[in-house]
Amino acid sequence: MPQASDLKRLADDAVKEIAAAADDAALEAARVRYLSRKDGLVTAATHAIGSLPNAEKPAYGQAINEAKRRIEESLASRASELATGRIEKSLGEADDLTLPPRRVRLGRLHPISRTIREITRVLATMGFEAVEGPEVEFDYYNFEALNIPRDHPARDKFNTLWIGNPKGDDPAKPVLLRTHTSPMQIRIMEQRKPPVRVVVPGRCYRFEATDATHESIFFQYEGLAIDEQLSMADLKGVLYSFARQLFGGDRKVRFRPDYFPFTEPSAEIAFDCFVCDGAGTTNAGRCPTCAGSGWIEAAGCGMVHPEALRRVGYDPARHQGFAFGGGVERLAMLLTGTPDIRLFHENDLRYLESV
Ligand code: PHE
Repeated sequence: MPQASDLKRLADDAVKEIAAAADDAALEAARVRYLSRKDGLVTAATHAIGSLPNAEKPAYGQAINEAKRRIEESLASRASELATGRIEKSLGEADDLTLPPRRVRLGRLHPISRTIREITRVLATMGFEAVEGPEVEFDYYNFEALNIPRDHPARDKFNTLWIGNPKGDDPAKPVLLRTHTSPMQIRIMEQRKPPVRVVVPGRCYRFEATDATHESIFFQYEGLAIDEQLSMADLKGVLYSFARQLFGGDRKVRFRPDYFPFTEPSAEIAFDCFVCDGAGTTNAGRCPTCAGSGWIEAAGCGMVHPEALRRVGYDPARHQGFAFGGGVERLAMLLTGTPDIRLFHENDLRYLESV
């Protein structure tokens, strides 16, 4: 005769077996073994109820329900244990989500690029259009057309890097890395009729030793304005406005007579040194930025030479104009308070991110 105590033993076995199930497949096998409607052990025990005397049926029936309940409960709890185990395992394999995230490094413009944008923005307010020209240049544009023929002593001050002429080394057309942006004065005037108002930023090259204010690869900007009735007063007006817009009203500007073969008259523009405020000395002695002079030469300028105008087919009796050209790095030093030009091109991010 089947007994209620049989069912208790059956349920004890099932609970032990289920608790030991190593994975979902083992768990499912246990479920089928005990609870399958067709041939599960509990189902078989249920069928046996028919052979019991009526008086024993209720107690037996209760024992069946109790056994089912215990088995179902332990199936559910083992299933959730197995699921939790899977999650913990996959967490162990994943990256540590509690680590602080990697810092996102935002790019930014190089101080030289920012300065070029600032120069062209300020000059745009006065009608100057930004254009660019070639860095590999003919001797003709870099020197000849600017009134610097082959044996002219002015060539000495441009320590030129010559390169082979790719079109067969034609000695009549020597090629170089431009030593200034002034060749673009000629190229633009060849291409356009007056009025002209352009600013040309770009890289230049000179075979020079570097120091706090000189680099062998550097940037210049060239301004050129051609019109009727332009005078030195217009040049000074534009450059004063340029300096004031870039540096505010405090910076001093100095014009001094200078010489360039392609401008007449010519002048040199300097701003007072921002490191020593024009004193020439600092607490540490002679100011390294202005080499003790109190001034930083910023640009050369002058009225475009009539000979250059004639060369491009302009009539100097009708059209004249002025040109100015200076170092971008010098202005970037002033704008960012950088005491040494070499800091711009060393690519030390610690410095570049600080300005
Ligand atoms: N190109 C000259 C230099 O590099 C500067 C300059 C530009 C002077 C335009 C006069 C006019 O020294």
